[in-house]
Amino acid sequence: MSLWKRTVYKSVCLSLALLVAVTVFQRSLTPSQFLQEPPPASLRQQKAQKPSGLLVNPDSFWKSSKEVVTPTPVVSRRPQAWDVNTTNCSANVNLTHQSWFQGLEPHFQQFLLYRHCRYFPMLLNHPEKCSGDVYLLVVVKSIIAQHDRREAIRQTWGREQESAGRGRGAVRTLFLLGKASKPEEQSHYQQLLAYEDRIYGDILQWDFLDSFFNLTLKEIHFLKWLDIYCPDVRFVFKGDDDVFVNPTNLLEFLADRRPQEDLFVGDILHHARPIRRKDSKYYIPGILYNQNSYPPYAGGGGFLMAGGLAQRLHHSCDTLELYPIDDVFLGMCLEVLGVRPMAHEGFKTFGISRNRNSRMNKEPCFFRSMLVVHKLLPTELLAMWELVHGNLTCSRKLQVL
Ligand SMILES: *[C@@H]1O[C@H](CO)[C@@H](O)[C@H](O)[C@H]1NC(C)=O
Ligand SMILES: *[C@@H]1O[C@H](CO)[C@@H](O)[C@H](O)[C@H]1NC(C)=O
Ligand SMILES: *[C@@H]1O[C@H](CO)[C@@H](O)[C@H](O)[C@H]1NC(C)=O
Ligand SMILES: *[C@@H]1O[C@H](CO)[C@@H](O)[C@H](O)[C@H]1NC(C)=O
Ligand SMILES: *[C@@H]1O[C@H](CO)[C@@H](O)[C@H](O)[C@H]1NC(C)=O
Repeated sequence: MSLWKRTVYKSVCLSLALLVAVTVFQRSLTPSQFLQEPPPASLRQQKAQKPSGLLVNPDSFWKSSKEVVTPTPVVSRRPQAWDVNTTNCSANVNLTHQSWFQGLEPHFQQFLLYRHCRYFPMLLNHPEKCSGDVYLLVVVKSIIAQHDRREAIRQTWGREQESAGRGRGAVRTLFLLGKASKPEEQSHYQQLLAYEDRIYGDILQWDFLDSFFNLTLKEIHFLKWLDIYCPDVRFVFKGDDDVFVNPTNLLEFLADRRPQEDLFVGDILHHARPIRRKDSKYYIPGILYNQNSYPPYAGGGGFLMAGGLAQRLHHSCDTLELYPIDDVFLGMCLEVLGVRPMAHEGFKTFGISRNRNSRMNKEPCFFRSMLVVHKLLPTELLAMWELVHGNLTCSRKLQVL
């Protein structure tokens, strides 16, 4: 009997102990407590930075400035919305007293006078473009007057798709614009653009003049916009409004790519030299860039990049002074990240054949096998699109010479 009693007593004690143990274990995992455990990322970062801030040697703090500049992509304190509401940026008149500045061409002078003005307010915005699962965002550099090009693109390679196929998200299209560059055109053009945007809802516009040297502004404004409104997009295609794009091939190319990799692919120029001939559109005076060659960069026309890389580019570009040629500037941002852009034969920035009169530049079978071809007028684009998507019989042995 006593043995039986002792066994009961033991098992009751054991189950009680078990119950207590389980309760304690469960309580330590209650959701509220669980959430309170690690401090928020931003707090952790502040804490991590404090000690090093206190330990800094006042005589050598400047030596570590390189480390401070390194972008920290993991913890990004991104604003909830576009946070630039006023244009309050005056010309840097200090420059006008310098003799080297006085010797520059007027458009370089204008560029340098306003180079420190980095961000402008938005005039037209579409935060809803990135709602849902967006696989590929297609963005097109355009100017107000080129509405016929936008129209042709909407009917052809810019057509949106609810699914990129194989269970992938949507394909969406946006046009990137500044203001009309001639003051007398501004109010009239602005009304037309607002009307176009009411119909299509696909225009992002910022409050800076659409000039050749301001294309770099367009680049950094887009990257900032993407970081705020489109952080989860998988891939981005950025192109000009005078190119032919083959979206089927683009999606095919992306099918075995992962959004996490540092993908940046296009028609890549290596060791390109700054042009010193004053009559060229791309002329760069030595005072603006004194090295012999540029870092690798994608020639205009179009390139593809991973969404995650685009976010990191936003931060790396913010550490650099603006450079008047946007393609080269982006190459500089890539260099800061140590990312090598990848060349692909399907991107033909200079036409299919560099010989402008070559018949290959009009041959639909080539267009069908390419990703991006520069450059076509809107009517040529529409006609080529029809041919490529019509009853086209191509030999399988096409070779681009
Ligand atoms: C800009 O304007 C928006 C909307 O009017 C407002 O929510 C935001 O706080 C403003 N930002 C700044 C920096 O003034
Ligand atoms: C620009 O900002 C400065 C300082 O914040 C202010 O004194 C000045 O009045 C502003 N100018 C304009 C045109 O808003
Ligand atoms: C112009 O020079 C003054 C005085 O040297 C300086 O305070 C100011 O920041 C300079 N302006 C710019 C835009 O660099
Ligand atoms: C770029 O746009 C700004 C804002 O409209 C303007 O002040 C500046 O002159 C433009 N720069 C060039 C080089 O056109
Ligand atoms: C393509 O060919 C089919 C049959 O040969 C024909 O019915 C169709 O109309 C053609 N389509 C075009 C766009 O020419």
